[in-house]
Amino acid sequence: MAPVRPSVLRRVVAGLVAAAVLVPLVLLWQTSRAPGRFAVTEAGAFERGSGPRVTTLDGHPGHADHGTGDPAGPAATVGVDDLVAPAGPADVVRTLTARAERVEIAPGRVIDAYTVDGTTPGPTLHATQGDLVEVTLVNESVPDGATLHWHGVDVPNGADGVAGVTQDAVPRGGSHTYRFVAADAGTYWYHSHQVSHEQVRRGLFGALVVAPTPGTTAAGGPEVARLLDGAVDVPAVVHRYGSQRTVQGVVGDLPVEAAPGRAARVRVINTDDAVLPVWVSGAAFRLLAIDGTDVHGPPEVEDAAVVVPAGGRADLLVVAPLDGTAARVELGGAGAVVVGPAGADATLTRRPATTLDPLTYGAPAPLGLDPADVARSFDYVIGRAPGFLDGRPGMHWTVNGHTYPDVPMFEVAEGEVVRMRIANRSGVPHPMHLHGHHVLVMSRDGEAASGSPWWTDSLEVGDGETYDVAFVADNPGIWMDHCHNLPHAAEGLVAHLAYEGVTTPYLLGHATGNEPE
Ligand code: C2O
Ligand code: CU
Repeated sequence: MAPVRPSVLRRVVAGLVAAAVLVPLVLLWQTSRAPGRFAVTEAGAFERGSGPRVTTLDGHPGHADHGTGDPAGPAATVGVDDLVAPAGPADVVRTLTARAERVEIAPGRVIDAYTVDGTTPGPTLHATQGDLVEVTLVNESVPDGATLHWHGVDVPNGADGVAGVTQDAVPRGGSHTYRFVAADAGTYWYHSHQVSHEQVRRGLFGALVVAPTPGTTAAGGPEVARLLDGAVDVPAVVHRYGSQRTVQGVVGDLPVEAAPGRAARVRVINTDDAVLPVWVSGAAFRLLAIDGTDVHGPPEVEDAAVVVPAGGRADLLVVAPLDGTAARVELGGAGAVVVGPAGADATLTRRPATTLDPLTYGAPAPLGLDPADVARSFDYVIGRAPGFLDGRPGMHWTVNGHTYPDVPMFEVAEGEVVRMRIANRSGVPHPMHLHGHHVLVMSRDGEAASGSPWWTDSLEVGDGETYDVAFVADNPGIWMDHCHNLPHAAEGLVAHLAYEGVTTPYLLGHATGNEPE
């Protein structure tokens, strides 16, 4: 046998080492590439959390350690299209037409936008609590297709508007009808959930205001009820088109006429990707509602800012000062809602050093769920790690250590009280949004909530923070649970909540045209 020359040996060894490094990398790259077509239920890893065993959608048994050996076998399935509002005539019927068009967003400043009925924001929809709402979306010219998602409204799953999960994106020339009961009064918004990071940025959204059933007592108490009686009610959709900040599509301040002593309910809706600090110059205020739910016993606040997460809403109650000046609801320091007599104003103030903390704000009241009933607990740990996302190398968001589309599918059974521990270890904050449910904040970093029950659907989770939230699994479906900094969602910061036995006929992936984020 001829001796192997050292140089050959070196090359062989170098080659083997390179292969040892490259082969796993290539495999990782390959497995990270999302298939051209897949159902969301095939994508992620099912997690059952701790709690009793449920029959799983993917046919595998649940955790044996929690199992009771339920011999009943797989539960009957129901498709997302069967999860709909009751039949019958609707109380509110609208058609909304989406277009891609040029819009003059400020004098002389024309942008490529998406509009609803010719404007951005689209029209504000109004309903009264209990109304059956029926909205038909017509896509006239949005090239990638569009949908409408009802952010914060606990709609039936079939009306959730998520392309590839609850419907196909509505193509140009197509239409789709959404039906839901507006069961909860409050401030909400609608937006496209097809290529949402781009379509929302460019304007495909609008406000939805649900008025309480006449005669309901305000959770705020008698003083708030007195002020609300005859108050001006104003939606304030805040959006940045490029660098242009707007409120209700207006650049600069939005004047709202109110005689001295008259109150205004200002419904701030943050449609951007970053937090919006809101404070009031020239008057005290009350934080009336968070994400559509009234705060119980909200005290008057001076010199504090309310931080509205991306996707979140904050209703502020301000009273036009008695001296004839105005109260300015400052929207991040660029534009304000100015409440007072015509022409009145107040001096703009800087953001106060103090931030209102909903964990301790307001008066305690019955929670609406019993934490002792928690049947199932999940962890939603947000991280960041090197890897491949759909074949692209880089630092990517992870959920419980996994990268999209291999993200968790949290599985619950209808009726369970569910606890979720959201821990953010990713280096940046994330506004977390669960579809179809409101969650109750139990604690932050171990500090128990002690103010008004804090129900939310858009929760800012700062880097290093851990929130314990709880909710009742009372709305069957397959629901997204994602970051509402929409570019983050498009980068894979997405997971899902699935009810036992619910299936979807819709598909995601490059070949389908459905791209929810
Ligand atoms: Cu406002 Cu999943 O969205
Ligand atoms: Cu995020």
